Amino acid sequence: RGITSEMYRTIGPPPTRIVLGFSQLGTESSWRMANTASIQSAAEEAGITLLMENAEQSQEKQFEAIRSFIRQKVDIIAIAPVVQSGWEPILQEVKQAGIPVVIIDRAVDVKDNALYVTFIGSDFFEEGVKAGKYLLDKLRNQPGPVRIAELQGTKGSTPSIDRGEGFRSVIKERPDLKITQSDPADFTEHQGYAVMKKLLEVPKQEQPSVLFAHNDDMAIGAVRAIEEAGLQPGEDMIIISIDGTRKAFEQMVEGKINAVVECNPLLGPLLMQAAKEIMAGRTLPKRMVPQEDIFTKEMAGDELARRKF
Ligand code: AHR
Repeated sequence: RGITSEMYRTIGPPPTRIVLGFSQLGTESSWRMANTASIQSAAEEAGITLLMENAEQSQEKQFEAIRSFIRQKVDIIAIAPVVQSGWEPILQEVKQAGIPVVIIDRAVDVKDNALYVTFIGSDFFEEGVKAGKYLLDKLRNQPGPVRIAELQGTKGSTPSIDRGEGFRSVIKERPDLKITQSDPADFTEHQGYAVMKKLLEVPKQEQPSVLFAHNDDMAIGAVRAIEEAGLQPGEDMIIISIDGTRKAFEQMVEGKINAVVECNPLLGPLLMQAAKEIMAGRTLPKRMVPQEDIFTKEMAGDELARRKF
C-alpha cells in the first residue's frame, strides 16, 4: 500500500537512496572477485543503489561506463582504474557534470588532485618494501649471487609499478641480489603459469632461485610451472607473492609459497561510508589506506581459518 499521506505527515518523505556508479576494472584475480563481492554486499547493507560495470581490463570501457553514469545522473562515481595514466580528460567531464568521484584500489596519475574526493586503497609501494625486507631477512646468511625472477602485474597499473619499485628500493642494499628476469603476467593465474614456464627455459645455471610475483594468482600459476620443471617450489625456489588469498595460504601451508604480503580487497564498507559522508557534505581525508600485514609459511596454518577471501 506504500506510504499514506498520514505517514508522510508524521515521519516525512522516505529518504532518497544514494545511487553509486562503480566502474570495476575486471575479473582477473581472486582478489578482484573478493573486492567486487565486498562492494556489492556493502552497498546492499548500506541501502545504496549500486550500478556496476565490468571493464574487462579496458580503460576505454571504463570511460564508456563513466559516461553512462553521467547520463544516468548518479550521485557518486567510484572508479577502480586499470592503469594509472590517461584519466585527466574523463575526470574533467565528471567534474563538469558536478558528480563527486571516489578512486578505489588503484591510483590515478593526475596533475589536479581536486578531480577526485578521496582515494581508498593499499600502499602498493609499502607492499613491495615488505616483500623485499622478507627476502633480505631470509637470505641474511646466504651469500650471493642470487638470481631473482619477477612476475609483474598489468603494465601501467599502480600495483605493478609501485610493488616493483618498493621491492627494488630494499633489495638494492645487497648488490649480489639481482633481478635477472622480469615480465608482465597480467595478474592472472594462467599468465603466471605461461610466463614462468618461459622463464624456466634457460640453462640451469641461469635459473632463478627466487620468484617475486606481484600477486597470488600469478604465484599459484608459477608454482605449477615450477613443479612441472621438476623443481620444488618453496625449497628450490623462494616464492614471495602479494594479496593473501585463501588459496595462497593453502599453498603456504604446503610449503610451496614462502611468504605473502597482504593486500586487502574488502574495501566495500569504506567505500559506502565515504559515499554517505560525501552526500552529507562532510570532508574526507584525501587518502585512506587499509591496514595490512605480511605472513610467512610458519604463520600460515594458524591464519588460514581466518582468511575471508
Ligand atoms: O589492484 C590490486 C591488485 O589487482 C591485486 O593485487 C591483484 O590481485 C589484482 O588483480
